[in-house]
Formats: sequence, C-alpha cells, structure tokens
Amino acid sequence: MKKRQFLKRLGQAAMATTIVPIASRSQKITHTNQPYPKGEGKDFWTRIRQDFDLKPDYINLENGYYCISPKPVMEKLYALTQMVNYEGSYYMRTSQWENKEKVTARLAKFVGCNPNSLAITRNTTESLDLIIGGFPWREGDEAIFANQDYGAMKDHFYMVRDRYGVVCKEVSIPNHPRSDEEIVALYESKITQRTKLLMVCHMINITGHILPIRKICDMAHKHGVEVMVDGAHAIGHIDVNISELDCDYYGSSLHKWLNAPLGVGLLYVSPKNIPNIWPLLAEYGRMPRDILRLNHTGTNPVQIYLAIEAAIDYLENIGIQKKEKRLRFLQKYWSDKLRDVPNIVVNTPIQPERSCGIANVGIAHMPPKLLAETLLDEFGIWTVAIDGFNVHGCRITPNIYTTTKELDVFVEAMKTLATRK
Ligand SMILES: Cc1ncc(COP(=O)(O)O)c(C=O)c1O
Repeated sequence: MKKRQFLKRLGQAAMATTIVPIASRSQKITHTNQPYPKGEGKDFWTRIRQDFDLKPDYINLENGYYCISPKPVMEKLYALTQMVNYEGSYYMRTSQWENKEKVTARLAKFVGCNPNSLAITRNTTESLDLIIGGFPWREGDEAIFANQDYGAMKDHFYMVRDRYGVVCKEVSIPNHPRSDEEIVALYESKITQRTKLLMVCHMINITGHILPIRKICDMAHKHGVEVMVDGAHAIGHIDVNISELDCDYYGSSLHKWLNAPLGVGLLYVSPKNIPNIWPLLAEYGRMPRDILRLNHTGTNPVQIYLAIEAAIDYLENIGIQKKEKRLRFLQKYWSDKLRDVPNIVVNTPIQPERSCGIANVGIAHMPPKLLAETLLDEFGIWTVAIDGFNVHGCRITPNIYTTTKELDVFVEAMKTLATRK
C-alpha cells in the first residue's frame, strides 16, 4: 500500500474511532547505552530521541493525550512487572506499602510538597473527581470553573449540581489576555458569599495557556474560597512547586509530560482540607488527617506506580528547567513562523510565560476536524482537532523527541493549507 493511501486509511480509521490493530509488531526494546552529550544543543536532543521507540508512519504532534515512555522507563516497567508476577501475594502483603510510600516521597520531593499531602492515583480524572464528588457540599453552594476546562471535571460539577443543588458558574478565558490581573478579575467577578470551590487549569489543555495560579489562589483565599488546580499538563512539563502555588487541591496525570507509563497520576490535598473530603472508595479506620483515607484503590497494577521513580530519574537526568526550555523553544519555533501568516489563527498567547510546549492553531476557512484529517492524510502529521469554547484549530503537542525538521514539515503544511481555496 502506498504511504498516502496508508495514511488516508489510518486517518479515516482514527477519525471514525474504529478499532486499530493493537500491536503491529513484537516489542523488543533495544536500548542504546550511548552517553548523553553535554549541553542543550542538537546532539543532546538527537540522543534523547534515540530513547523513544517512534512509529515511522506519522509525525506525532499529539503527545498531549499521553506521551510514550522512553526506553529506560519501559525497561524498568518490564522488570517491575516480572518482579510483581514472581513475588505474587507475598509482595502485596509485605513490601507493597513501604515501596509505595518511598515512591510517594520521591514524587513529593519532585513536585515540592509534603509527602503526607500527596497520594498516587491513576490519573487527573480520578484525583479531581474525587475532590468534586467528596467535597462537603450543601444545597446552594457555588462552584466556579472555566468553560475551557476538561469535560470530565465539568461533568462531575454538573452531577453535584443535580445531586446536591450546587450552583455552577462558568467563566470564559480569553485566548490573549492583557494581563494576569484580567484573568484574576474574571474569576473574582463570579465569587459570592456562597462560593465554596474554584477549579482552575494550570495549563488549559486545548490552548496550552498557562494561568497565574498563585495570584488566583491569593485572590480566592481572601474571599474564603478553596482552589482546586487541574495540573494534568503541568507536571513534568514546567517546573512546578505545589507548595509555592498555595492551592488547596492539585491533580495531575504523570503519563502525559513526565513520560511515566500509562495509568499514574497524583493528588495533592493541603493538610487542613484532608479531613473534610469524603473518599471515593471507603477506607475507614484511618485518622482524619491521613491522606491515605482518600486513596483506597483495591488491588491494582502496583508496578505502574513503582515505575514513577524511573520516569523521575529520566527527567532529572535531563533537568526540568532544560526540558521546559526545550518544549517552549519547540512551540515558539513553529508558532512564531505561523502567527503572521494570512488566514492562520494561533489560539495561544504569545508571551513566553503564558505557554510552553502546547499551542493551538487553526485556519480561518477550515473546520478543525477537516484540518486534522488533511494534516494526517496529506502530510502525515498526527494532531487533534479542537472546536469549541472560543478555540477552533488543532492542538499541537510535540515532546522532547520532536525535531525542528518535523516542525518544518508542519509549518509548510499549514502555509500550504492557508492559501488553499
Ligand atoms: C486539562 C485536563 N484535565 C484532565 C485531563 C484528564 O486526564 P486523564 O485522562 O489522564 O485523567 C486531561 C486529559 O487530557 C486534561 O487535558
């Protein structure tokens, strides 16, 4: 089959969400032991790319859903899987909890919070829905969030609205704000005496817009309102210190930008709030201030969260500042080339502090779905279409293995499509 035909089929399959084959070849990790060149130049990032087992069929600019793990992390995961399978229930009844505690402590250090305030979860959805569902709501209480927030959390707010009579108030975040104060004022304008909880994205997933979390927390706390941060895209992407944000709750998915294996997340709850939240799955008999009372999971694949350490090792070998700088560079590399092109609309703020690796771009006369399909079908570029809440375009999420050459292909594709009638 010709490449074009193959991509067309793949595009149709993906867009129609039909089932694609699970494995097209057997997975053998061939890990190179070549050293990592010093510095931040091309040689370093070329070596990093060798750590990823990349499909040659398309340029993957959709790492925002989740990013594949590099080979050293996968090797560790396989070894852990074998260990857990070998040890059986002996492991579960002996070392399981101690090991989980060690991983939690390592993760807490990485994200800058006290381990007693941190729980390992499966993902952001579990972390934040646990808070929304377990919050001690009373009829007439009010919650604030943005209509650009993630659907699963908004749906849970609508559920507590229907279940407990909570009033949901939504703001719309401008794609190009004039200042942090504009954003803070937007949230503040919705606060009343009855407001209890404000949810805010650290990085809006559809645009990559980074919001001024500390300023929003300071403002909300002045009104006695608690703040829950959706940090799905922040951990492992930008340098985050949860304590410095002074939020009440923080959730993230570690399979996105930390390159941990699929199915791990975190939940931070500030110490004073732990006793107030009802768990999702009951764990009675623990002290009210013990965060583990919120973290009952039943039997689950423990090797996945043990591999978080390998993902932190991998990232720390690079350095979070260096990674953040690289991701911001990659985003600006393509978006600066497209911002002033007629018919092209970049839906992400231009200021470097307001975005990092994620950005969104559309073509004025082209529906986002068609744009995503055409990028895949004609140019072999995999993205995702976003069409709503003031954002019409494709979300572009490179990762540390992405090359500028791949981004050149994307830029040329966009320029071609922008002039097409
Ligand atoms: C902003 C935001 N919040 C939450 C989630 C949910 O993440 P997960 O599916 O890993 O729970 C996502 C997923 O893309 C997201 O973008």
